[in-house]
Amino acid sequence: MGQAGSHVVKIARADSDNLSYPRDKFKPGRRARGLKHPTSKKEEVKVYRLFYPQIAMIVASRTTHRVEAVAMNSVISGSSDPPRVVCAMKREATILAVVRESKSFSVNWMDSRFVKSVDFLGFQRVENPRDKIKAAGLTWLRGSKTSAPVVSEAAATLECTLDRVIPLGDNDLVVGNVVATRTSRDFSEYWQFKKYKPLIYFGAVPGKKVGRYVLFRSRRRGLVAAPHTRS
Ligand SMILES: Cc1cc2nc3c(=O)[nH]c(=O)nc-3n(C[C@H](O)[C@H](O)[C@H](O)COP(=O)(O)O)c2cc1C
Repeated sequence: MGQAGSHVVKIARADSDNLSYPRDKFKPGRRARGLKHPTSKKEEVKVYRLFYPQIAMIVASRTTHRVEAVAMNSVISGSSDPPRVVCAMKREATILAVVRESKSFSVNWMDSRFVKSVDFLGFQRVENPRDKIKAAGLTWLRGSKTSAPVVSEAAATLECTLDRVIPLGDNDLVVGNVVATRTSRDFSEYWQFKKYKPLIYFGAVPGKKVGRYVLFRSRRRGLVAAPHTRS
């Protein structure tokens, strides 16, 4: 087993006979137990929070006039052949307008030491800087295959051309064709986690412009909850 394998956490296999919701009672379209008012705000929040924790990344795009960047936890690998990524973006977000216009974007994996920069890019602010990456205390390079800005400090980056935008609800699904990748030495086939310590996000602090994160102190000393980055 390679080095990456030795850090894999064993996960207990789900026992299908032990499901809390019996299979014979499950009917497609039937409401999950407990969701009595599925349209209420409180329960919408509960549903998406079930998906935390997730890795916080930066998605960036630019036109000639502005560089847009946002924190994003909804990026997934949607297809390997062809390589495509999918992310959920708020329909009214500025970044979506910039992605539509430039037809390209980058996905940037950030080490947890950049928690403040990522958190800065995670909340709408009154000021509207022309270069959000710079405003977050980071730097960028022009992509090798697209005009998308690639965050120089990122542990890995993807450059994507816009494939399509699929309307969904309050978020649109943005599908990107991966046209270039750049990874740091820590990634060889798998992340080795020798240098790269992922930034693990588990939700916004209600009423505050700040998120909650888990940080790695070191592999030996394990995980620690990050103090709230701003108050
Ligand atoms: C860690 C983190 C992850 C986020 N993930 C997403 C996401 O996946 N999709 C999304 O639309 N907004 C997400 N947000 C919120 C956006 O980053 C936020 O709405 C955006 O920065 C506001 O920028 P704007 O003022 O340009 O619209 C996330 C926020 C944080 C803190």
